[in-house]
Amino acid sequence: MTVEQNVAQHYTHGALEAVIFEALRKSGKDPERLEPDDLATGDEFHIGGREATIAFAEQLGLRPSLQLLDVGCGIGGPARYFAHHQKCQVTGIDLTDEFVRVARALSQRVGLADKVTFVQGSALELPFPAGNFDGAYMLHVGMNIGDKATLFAQVKRVLKPDGFFGIYDVMRTGPGEIIFPVPWASTGATSFVADDAPTGGC
Ligand SMILES: C[S@@+](CC[C@H](N)C(=O)[O-])C[C@H]1O[C@@H](n2cnc3c(N)ncnc32)[C@H](O)[C@@H]1O
Repeated sequence: MTVEQNVAQHYTHGALEAVIFEALRKSGKDPERLEPDDLATGDEFHIGGREATIAFAEQLGLRPSLQLLDVGCGIGGPARYFAHHQKCQVTGIDLTDEFVRVARALSQRVGLADKVTFVQGSALELPFPAGNFDGAYMLHVGMNIGDKATLFAQVKRVLKPDGFFGIYDVMRTGPGEIIFPVPWASTGATSFVADDAPTGGC
């Protein structure tokens, strides 16, 4: 099995859509009448959840109608936030097929299907033309990707010349071993946490 297949297997639940709708029902929401923000407590898979996405968006200086790429979009929480609150058009790509299917289903339910598009694929082989996006972002994904040079080259290729790339990731801030399992990996085979102060050029 390749690293990417291992990563996708790690994140695959098998019945995620049903679990999410059941949790929404239990919390008193009607799955037939959902607003985008009704999903916010469960559709952001990074430290800080929605609060962190809001802070991240402020730093990106977004404006309406920007074409954005969400690298490793998960089930689409951040993409829906940028589409709904920042009025951007967002394309998300993710390795995990189940996440992409759930991202589409949730977006349909909350009436954002025309603002967000989700594609199954790899950040290391982005299936988009050169210069396609005004900006890209990546929330807690780099720690699953070893070949960061190819990742950055791929993102640069699909950005317009003045495009931006925002990253919020898990970083190593000191010495010591990572004790597995961790939320992003069961073993070291799929964990590629970068140092916050790399010594090499990049
Ligand atoms: C911790 S989740 C974060 C999801 C989303 N960014 C969020 O914040 O809600 C990490 C995601 O990265 C995706 N991922 C990991 N490696 C990837 C790769 N090489 N290409 C595309 N997606 C990848 C996984 O499938 C998973 O959905």
